[in-house]
Order: sequence, then C-alpha cells, then structure tokens
Amino acid sequence: RQPEKHILVIFGASGDLTYRKLIPSVFDLYTQKLLPDNFGVLGLGRTDLSDDQFRDKMKEGIEKFSGTIKTKKGMEEEFLTKLFYYAFNTKEEKEYPDFKNHLESLNKKLKTGNNYIFYLATPPSMYPLVPKFLANNQLNDESNGFKRLIVEKPFGYDLESARSLNRDLQNQFREDQIYRIDHYLGKETVQNLLVTRFSNGIFEPLWNRNFIDHVEITSAEDIGVGDRGGYYEDSGALRDMVQNHLMLLASLVAMEPPALIKDESIRNEIVKVMQSLRPIPEEKVPEFVIRGQYIGSEIRGKKQKGYREEKGVNPKSRTETFVAMKFFIDNWRWAGVPFYIRTGKSLPTRVTEIVIHFRPTPHHLFHGDKDIMKQKNQLVIRIQPDEGILLKFGMKVPGAGFNVQDVNMDFHYSELNDTYLPSAYERLLLDCMLGDATLYSRADAVEAAWEFVDPILKAWKNQPCIKVHGYPAGTWGPDVSDQLIEGEQTWRYPCKN
Ligand code: BG6
Repeated sequence: RQPEKHILVIFGASGDLTYRKLIPSVFDLYTQKLLPDNFGVLGLGRTDLSDDQFRDKMKEGIEKFSGTIKTKKGMEEEFLTKLFYYAFNTKEEKEYPDFKNHLESLNKKLKTGNNYIFYLATPPSMYPLVPKFLANNQLNDESNGFKRLIVEKPFGYDLESARSLNRDLQNQFREDQIYRIDHYLGKETVQNLLVTRFSNGIFEPLWNRNFIDHVEITSAEDIGVGDRGGYYEDSGALRDMVQNHLMLLASLVAMEPPALIKDESIRNEIVKVMQSLRPIPEEKVPEFVIRGQYIGSEIRGKKQKGYREEKGVNPKSRTETFVAMKFFIDNWRWAGVPFYIRTGKSLPTRVTEIVIHFRPTPHHLFHGDKDIMKQKNQLVIRIQPDEGILLKFGMKVPGAGFNVQDVNMDFHYSELNDTYLPSAYERLLLDCMLGDATLYSRADAVEAAWEFVDPILKAWKNQPCIKVHGYPAGTWGPDVSDQLIEGEQTWRYPCKN
C-alpha cells in the first residue's frame, strides 16, 4: 500500500538529523517505490539556501547514509527534484502567513491535496512554538487534507516539562495527529521481539516469573559524546537513553499479548507495563541505580578522551555517561523478577541486546565445570549490530561421564539471502505517511516513563553525596555496577562471549 499524496515539511532542515537520517531514509523509500507519485519535501530553516544548494547538500547525505544507494545509484538525481527549501525564521509568528502561502503554492504545483506532515527536527525549545504557530494559521485543520505532526525526542526534560509539552501539543493538534518518534521502535529487530514472543509456541509459556530468573538489557556504545557535548551536558544517559529507548525495550519484553497488531492495542499494552513499574523512592536511588562518567584512558597505546575533556562539557561536569539500574515490574507476570538495564558511552563495543535468563533446573544432576553449572539457559536477542537471536543451552561433552558444556543455537539476519533491513527512520516515516501510529509513542506512555525516572533525577540533583563513578574510557563502566546483580550472576559481556 502506498501512502496518499502529500508534502513532508521539515522544520530544522539545515540540521544534522535531516542530512544523516531523514532525507536518506526518504530516498530509500523512493528507490523502493514506497512514496506516492505526488510528493515533495519542503525543508525549512533559517540558513539561506536555494533549492539547488539544499539539494546538493542532501545529495551528499544520501551518498553517505542511504541504505539503498549502492544498488540504486543514479536514482538520486530524479529524487532530488522532489526537494525544495524555504528560508524563514520559524520562531517568528509573523512570518508564518508567508510560509503558508509558499507551502500552498507548492501544494498546487505538486498536486498534493493539502496533505501535510510537519516534522519537528528543531531544538526542543521550538516544540511548543511551532505547533501553535501552525495552528494559528489553520495548518492543523484536516477539513481539506490530513495534517500530521512528528516530534523528535526529547519529549520533555522531566515529568513536569513532559506533561506541559503534551498539553501544549494537544492544545493545537489532536492526539491522533501527533507522532512522537522513538527510533528504537522503528528497528526491525525490536519489532521482531513481538514476533519472537507471540508467534512461537515455545517461548510464551515460559515467559513469566515461573521460568525467568531475570532480564538484562544492555545498550553500549564504543564512542564518546563527540561534538554533542553541549546537548549531552543537560541530558546525560538517563534522559538520553533510559527514559525512552530502554524503557521501551523493557516494555516490549514485558508486555502482555496485544489483542491486535494495530495502533492502540500495542500502545495500550506498552503503557500498562510503564504504569506497573515499581517506583524507586529518592532515598533508595543509590541502591538501585549506578551512574558513571568516562575518564581519560589509554587503550593499546591510543589515548582516549575523558568526558570532561570533550567539547562543550564543563570540566567539573557531573553528567552521567553510564547508567546501570535494577527495577521491578509489579504485575501478575513479573512479580519478583529483577530487570537490569545498562547503557553507556565509551564502552568497549557497540551492542544493544536483551538477555532473558531462565531459571536453572531444580536439581543439578550432572557435573561439569563449576562456572558452567552456574549458567542458566539464556535467550539473547541482539538488536544491533549483527542482528539475530541466540539460545544458549547445556550439552553433554562428548566422551566418558556426563559433563555439561554450554553451546549456542545462533541465528543471524545476515544469513538470510538478499535481506535488506530498512532503517528505523525509513520504517517510521512510512508509517506516519500511511497514518499508522502503532510504532510511535503515546502521550501517556511518555509520561509514565518520566514518572518512573523523575525520582532518580531528583535524587541526583538533591543529594550531591551520590557518587558519579569514574570509569576508564573503553571499559564496561564502573565495577560497582556488578554489585547490582543479585546472586552469583554477572552482566553478560557481549564481546567476551
Ligand atoms: C539517540 C541518542 O537517541 O540514540 C544518542 O540521543 C545515541 O546519544 C543514539 O547514540 C543511539 O541510537 P542507535 O540507533 O545508534 O542505537
């Protein structure tokens, strides 16, 4: 099914997101013939650019970041004719009538039926303003064509600002016109989590407190904050990764089967999980949450920068670049099962994976290496890179006796011939064009996640004695994060395998 004709209007089109993600993804949709014939992109920004200058810059982005460019070389020239640019100060309400005229004449030219998607790829301070100015100029009015609004993260800075942002957006657009992007839900392997759970008879009966010992989610990055220090200083890993991407992954692992694979069914189940999170009271934060910050180190003779030496970072910064936490989901299915989440910058490798640790057998019949006996069956869902699924189980060591060793059943997406994995933005943009919000975050889920995270932020703010543990860049974070995990278990260290 192809989306209806429309114009994609990007606020903040001279920025990095447009260059690296949005336009390359729209190009990938184009090469796969997933865009309507009557279609255009109107980039907006303060930088004065002609259509041609904008196209030249976007061409560069496409060449670097498109997933299909290698096989579809040559199609970019044709595609670029669909891109347009209009410079104006999006902070100034008085400039909107002219912008509207410009948009309407483009709409006439392209015959796009007054259908518009407005993408806010701007700094978050613009999120309440742009929708208001659009609405004041009737650009929220669906009587003559659809009007949708895509909002990038961050959705708020804490619970209060998230609520106020939702109120501001909902004053101007209906909730079903608002698409809050969390690009993790656009990832093929994240969606596959639902298929793994709900289309296989063997997993779901075991997917509960009776058979699962604990759940571990790691999202590690091997690079530091680079040139995003200015943004990151005010954000930190908890806001940047945990409140959104990782809480979402945890919800998909924990949710009940939805009634349907459609809009509200999935979103209702996600929000129920978020609402069942056991709050971590401020005074208990140090017991449940570890924060860390990378410090300068040397790996194989190569100097690694510490966070405080990065551009735009306060040399005395206490912003966390690493978070490890333990929490519980107080509901029927998960009572008493600890969930562990870990994320950080400047760790040894880039990997995002979910590990389901099953309970051991009730009695150890066989002998083996002591460490192996401690192992439990694990289902490892690798979100990225080397996307796939791995099941670890015990097998007899060939020969005399009954010794047990750990072996893997391992599936890699790369083994599927000619499989093109669409990028997250590609999938999500297409869904919005089709009017399908299933994979976008709903206001109540965003607020429920903030509600859970808020006391942690408050504790860190109000209790300066809570430590920010230093860890050498290129290591797995502060050692104390190991103590979070109960019993004899440790985190799984993916690159040690
Ligand atoms: C973004 C964060 O939302 O997600 C970044 O702002 C982070 O700091 C990125 O690097 C990780 O996304 P991915 O898709 O590379 O795992």
